[in-house]
Amino acid sequence: MAINYLNLQTEYQSRFGGEPRLFRAPGRVNLIGEHTDYNDGFVLPMAIEYATIVAAAVREDRKIRVCSVNLGEEGEINLDAPEQKFRGSWLDFVEGVARILERRNVKLRGADLLISSDVPTGAGLSSSAALEISVGLALTEISNQSIDKVQLALVGQAAEHEFVGAKIGIMDQFVSALGRKGHALLIDCRKLQAEQVPFATDDAAIAICNTNIKHELAASEYNTRRAECEQGVEILQKFLPGITHLRDVSVADFEKYKNHLPEIIRKRCRHVVTENKRTLDAAEALRKNDFEEFGRLMWLSHMSLRDDYEVSCRELDLLVKIASECAGVLGARMTGGGFGGSTVNLVRREKLEDFTEKVSIKYFRQTQIATDVYVSNPAGGASEIIF
Ligand code: GLA
Repeated sequence: MAINYLNLQTEYQSRFGGEPRLFRAPGRVNLIGEHTDYNDGFVLPMAIEYATIVAAAVREDRKIRVCSVNLGEEGEINLDAPEQKFRGSWLDFVEGVARILERRNVKLRGADLLISSDVPTGAGLSSSAALEISVGLALTEISNQSIDKVQLALVGQAAEHEFVGAKIGIMDQFVSALGRKGHALLIDCRKLQAEQVPFATDDAAIAICNTNIKHELAASEYNTRRAECEQGVEILQKFLPGITHLRDVSVADFEKYKNHLPEIIRKRCRHVVTENKRTLDAAEALRKNDFEEFGRLMWLSHMSLRDDYEVSCRELDLLVKIASECAGVLGARMTGGGFGGSTVNLVRREKLEDFTEKVSIKYFRQTQIATDVYVSNPAGGASEIIF
């Protein structure tokens, strides 16, 4: 799986010539705190050991020539020509990042980019964020400019909002830019600050199971959920005038005023309000190395996403159910936006092999679809590769 840097350099030289610099940005898995980021709340993801690598060198003009090794596709962007967006291809991410960097006063030079990635796509592991952040870092650095990592994350998010049309939160880009090896990040999505929480995976490991399904609903339902949360805030503001986001609503406040909310909105709000609390509690459990408690919160998170937020699906529920039947599994839940993608599982290390085998067999038996299981330690965020 891991990308061979030397091969990438050699390929770069035969395609573009010259000596490229190499930059990487990882995918992520969210341990807990789902659909809380755009509610100004808390999330607890970690960067994974799967990453996107960009080999890059400057050109004398203002063109960005870009080639994807994985897709065997190439494209060109002229920074002095009018912008193009919503092509519906990976080029939107590249162009979006370049244009937004320039709008934020990072003056770019033209560049030749060769991109290779081992982040699984469509798996809910933020291959898009890995692409945005690695390209953003590469373009900035080779142009002899600099950018703060939080600003880089915001550039990636803005690229998705404006060039791709996905109104996502900040979690994926933030952890891809700022992840830390051996740590999960407790991100406060309002303050855009993170606490690095040590996560030793010697005893309990993170295994990610890919449903290998992506339901069409994902994008439209995501936007619907955002709107439902906003409606909830609007109603609750009558009773809690100081609030601007569900982040500001405590579980006690919610219990007090929930009967003023229509049923669907009540369910959505209940998920977000309780998930914020679970996330803070899970970070506390991690600080104490209390994996039993951490796992318990993961199961609860899944139930809330399934029953209240209604962003799970049959395949995700099945993977979580199978995990619950395996020895040594401390917790399991869907991760990412939902409607397909992956589950994240906290599994005793000595049971990992057993777990992988059981999940693969049982999932295939019931769906005729093969799952992929990825095991990853918490990895570092975006950086230049020096070797
Ligand atoms: C997607 C988005 C994130 C976040 C999650 C749900 O991954 O990109 O910003 O909202 O869904 O937690």
